[in-house]
Amino acid sequence: MSRRTDIKPAEGKLGVLLVGLGAVATTFVAGVEAVRRGRAQPIGSLTQLGHIRLGKRTENRNPLIKEFVPLAALDDLVFGAWDPIPDNAYEAAVKAGVLEARDLEPSREFLESIRPMPAVFDKSYVRNLDGENVKRGKNKRELAEQLREDIRRFKEEHGCSRLVTVWCGSTEIFLQPSEVHQTLAAFEAAMERNDPQIAPSMLYAYASISEGVPFANGAPGLTVDFPAIWELAREKRVPIAGKDFKTGQTFMKTVLAPALKARMLGLSGWFSANILGNRDGLVLDDPDSFKTKEESKLGVLDYILQPELYPELYGEVYHKVRINYYPPRGDNKEGWDNLDIFGWLGYPMQIKVDFLCRDSILAAPIVLDLALFLDLAQRAGMHGIQEWLSFYWKSPMTAPELYPEHDLFIQHMKLKNTLRHLQGEKEITHLGLDYYE
Ligand SMILES: NC(=O)c1ccc[n+]([C@@H]2O[C@H](COP(=O)([O-])OP(=O)(O)OC[C@H]3O[C@@H](n4cnc5c(N)ncnc54)[C@H](O)[C@@H]3O)[C@@H](O)[C@H]2O)c1
Repeated sequence: MSRRTDIKPAEGKLGVLLVGLGAVATTFVAGVEAVRRGRAQPIGSLTQLGHIRLGKRTENRNPLIKEFVPLAALDDLVFGAWDPIPDNAYEAAVKAGVLEARDLEPSREFLESIRPMPAVFDKSYVRNLDGENVKRGKNKRELAEQLREDIRRFKEEHGCSRLVTVWCGSTEIFLQPSEVHQTLAAFEAAMERNDPQIAPSMLYAYASISEGVPFANGAPGLTVDFPAIWELAREKRVPIAGKDFKTGQTFMKTVLAPALKARMLGLSGWFSANILGNRDGLVLDDPDSFKTKEESKLGVLDYILQPELYPELYGEVYHKVRINYYPPRGDNKEGWDNLDIFGWLGYPMQIKVDFLCRDSILAAPIVLDLALFLDLAQRAGMHGIQEWLSFYWKSPMTAPELYPEHDLFIQHMKLKNTLRHLQGEKEITHLGLDYYE
């Protein structure tokens, strides 16, 4: 049995700072408020509904996760946001069209009270978007300093004891790590000279971590995933996590691909198409933003299927992902998957998946869990990349020498074992040896 970790209690208010007050962020905030008022259940949230088995199966110990580890209570959450579009959370939620009036009206006043702070925004990184609620500064360093001031002011004004930041902003154009991302010194110098390799999202990550605030990246951009920012997170002892919420199609992919591999069934092609009509879909209509998303969605299969170990089964998989902006569907995305698989003696078969999902309904509980778990991690003294939260990501961040774990069930086990470990409980390996003890 491992030693119980000293975890500071979840006392006082936890401020959740959302970068981007669009469909996902408003669905999350309105949902938490509806749950707090006893009007809804937090469906999809592991921190709120999940149980965790402890000890041997005969012991019958299955506490709720939120009772097993000290998580912030929903009543202690307060929300802040930045967005280049000045709409308050109520107006933004109505425009997003995810939740219906019956779910928004009872919390209208509360939602109207959440007004976005001016954003660090630059249209060259999100081309299909305009907004006037934007900060001005002489260079990127100064803009980051303004964000730091926002964070301090928010904490003070709302009497928060702790904060976490979650990027729920649009997907920025594709950027690869370059010289300026390698060290903190190079990154800070590059901010001073307004280097184009530094996207707005990186400034939020820099500001947040500099203020000792954990940061999660819900979009696929580099944002908090490059050596300079890891260095800062290490130095400030701040937990970070990313990237790209695993919600609809990739969620399904990371369930089905491990199943095929577990049965040693072959795969020759996987075609994934999506239609969606929300603002996210509009942003992804720009090829450079789509490229960032595409990279994030494509990586999954290679890691799960390990073609280098199974060339006869997965050596020649044709994998294609398409996202099409189609306004009539709004946030209610449809994702089609066609899998060409083969079995015994190479005989071909097909699997078709048609997932009529609601993007933000799937993403909102993930935002909640990440905010609560990152806060827990910080109180437990964990810092840097939180791989145990891979469960929530399309492209889980890892230490540079490791490959990401994509299999949803391995990710789930890793998350629960981390919680067991923190509380000094035995990790569960499903070996069954306990039976003989
Ligand atoms: N919904 C899902 O299932 C899902 C899954 C994975 C990832 N994501 C990602 O989550 C993000 C949010 O999705 P959404 O559906 O809420 O999109 P959305 O377009 O409704 O909201 C994004 C908001 O971010 C704002 N924004 C853009 N740049 C900003 C900046 N620099 N600073 C502050 N705000 C900024 C936009 O004005 C907009 O209001 C997107 O990047 C999306 O790709 C969503």
